[in-house]
This record gives sequence, C-alpha cells and structure tokens, in this order.
Amino acid sequence: MKIRRPIIAGNWKMHRTLSEAENLVKGLLIELTDLSDTDVVLCPPFTSLAKVADLVAKTPVRVGAQDMYWEKEGAFTGEISATMLRDVFCRYVILGHSERRQYFGETNALVNRKAKAALAASLRPIVCVGETLDQREKQDFKGILRTQLRESLEGISVEEIEEAIVAYEPVWAIGTGRNATPAQAQEVHALLRATLTDMTGAKTAAKIRIQYGGSVKPANAAELLAQPDIDGALVGGASLDARAFAAIVKAAT
Ligand code: PGA
Repeated sequence: MKIRRPIIAGNWKMHRTLSEAENLVKGLLIELTDLSDTDVVLCPPFTSLAKVADLVAKTPVRVGAQDMYWEKEGAFTGEISATMLRDVFCRYVILGHSERRQYFGETNALVNRKAKAALAASLRPIVCVGETLDQREKQDFKGILRTQLRESLEGISVEEIEEAIVAYEPVWAIGTGRNATPAQAQEVHALLRATLTDMTGAKTAAKIRIQYGGSVKPANAAELLAQPDIDGALVGGASLDARAFAAIVKAAT
C-alpha cells in the first residue's frame, strides 16, 4: 500500500460532445469496479461538466475542469470562475497544462494566481509542470522544473498546499506514445518532492501527491505507478477509452 492515496485523473482535452461524454461516463462506471483505494477524477470540457458531475454523483468519482480564471466574476469574456466550477460540483481543476502554456501563453505567475483562486474556492488544483525535449537535451531542465514548481505554488500556505496536486508531464511524452521511463519519471518526481520539501518542510512535502502524465497507457501504468514518488497519473488519450482508463485505475489500486 502506498503512503499517499493514488489519484488518477482523465484529461479529456477538447474531446467529446455532451452525448459522447454521457456514453463515455456510463461505460466507465461499468468498468470501474473497485475505487476504495484510489481517487478518480474526470476532467471533461466545460460544456460537459454539469452532465458528468450528475452522472457520477452517487459514486466516489470526482469531476475536474481543465482551466479557470482567477477573478470571482466580471467583464472577462470567455472565462469561467472557480465559483462557477464549484456550482457544477467540480472539486478539481487542472492548471498550467503544457498546452495552455504553449498555445495560450500561460506563465508560472498566471498559474500561481489561478492556483490561489482555486484553493480559496476549495477547488483542488492539479498544477502541471514539464520540460520540452529541447530543454531536456540542451538546457538545465531540472532548474527549469524547480522554477516552474516554485513560481506556480509561491505564497500558498502550508495548510492549503496539501490540497494541491502536482503533475509532472514531460512535454515530449504528451500524446507522442513515448512515455518517460519509470526511472526517468522517478528521478524528476524525487526532485520535485525535494523542491516541495525546501518550500514547505518534509512533513508537508511527504503528503503532496505528484502525478505523472505523458502517454500513460494500461501497458506502462503499473510500472510507473510502482515508483516511490509517483502517486498517480494524469491521463490524456487513454482516458477517452473506458476500458483503458479503468485498466490504469486498476494498476494504481
Ligand atoms: P497523453 O496526455 O496521455 O495523451 O499523453 C497527457 C496530458 O496531456 O495530460
């Protein structure tokens, strides 16, 4: 049994209409049989959040959003607030995914504002960090990862930080079919935990869950999740297939 309760989240990205989401969740609920030892979170697009939350309401499965804005309300066309997410029974929110950083210009400072707003509204942020292939090959990628983590979580109290989840997602492994090896992932997870120890102390750092993400599949999940500092997975592609996602959850249990 792991010290930290495993957490498997499915990041659906920009996939699935309302009726498709309904079918996927119904399929998943048939496949997911034992959830006693693992937290499972589904992160559909905004348009399906309320529906998915309704479908899983009587189960231990939780719902998360893929992004949010930090202001409570106002003239921010196109944005969604933490209060609105809570209103449709969201408990989690993915923040700073590499696709948000890459295509929508999100910075660590911006992720930090969102993380603080999420925690203030009792939403658990899943804060993503990860290096590109170029950074891994040519730069001090460990320094880059440490900075991403520090700046994204800066100024958050020790009590609140325990509610946060960190996701390590090497950008070169996302959607490529090329996952980090368990040893490569463990090395970075240990580094991130050491950084959290510097920031919050060993006791708190030992409680924070760090997910791995990037081409997690049923075939590689068990080996990745067996690593001492890998406490779960953030799953993209495979989370759109009920059987594959359930097999990953089983690997964590
Ligand atoms: P992938 O995506 O599992 O399709 O590689 C992971 C993610 O981007 O969260």
